[in-house]
Amino acid sequence: MKVLVLNGPNLNRLGKREPAIYGSQTLADLAELCVKTGSELGLEVDFRQTNAEHELLESLHQAADESIPVVLNAAAWTHTSVAIGDACAQLTAPLIEVHLSNVHKREEFRHHSYVSAHATGVIVGLGFGGYVAALNHIASL
Ligand code: DQA
Repeated sequence: MKVLVLNGPNLNRLGKREPAIYGSQTLADLAELCVKTGSELGLEVDFRQTNAEHELLESLHQAADESIPVVLNAAAWTHTSVAIGDACAQLTAPLIEVHLSNVHKREEFRHHSYVSAHATGVIVGLGFGGYVAALNHIASL
C-alpha cells in the first residue's frame, strides 16, 4: 500500500531550527526513518516536504483522487490555512495528523488546527516517533 508522508513549511530546517524544540536530527533522517519503517511494514512511503502551499494542496488532491492514506505535518499551515483544511476534507483514506512538538504546551495560536477535524487521529509531542506510530496505525488497518 502506498502512503504519502507530507511535511509543510520550515521542516526542511530540522536539525538547524530551534533544536531545543525540534531536536538535532534532519529532514533527511526523518525521510530515511519513514521509508525504512514503511518497508518493514509493507508500505510504500512517498515522503515529501514543501515550503509552497500550492504544492502541499496538490499532494493532498492526489491523495484524494487516488484514495491514498496520508501522514500530515502541515507545520504552521495547520494553524492558519483554511485551504489545507478544505483539502483534508476531501480525503477518503485515513489521515493521521502529526506534530513533532506538543503544540498544546506551546503558544495559544498553536492550539487550533484546521486539519484535526478531518483526521482519523492526531499525534503530538512524540518527535520522529509520531511518524512511526502513524505508519504503524496505517499498516494495521
Ligand atoms: C509543528 C508545530 C507547528 O506549530 C509549527 O509551526 C511547526 C512544526 C511540529 O511538528 O511540532 O512548524 O508542526
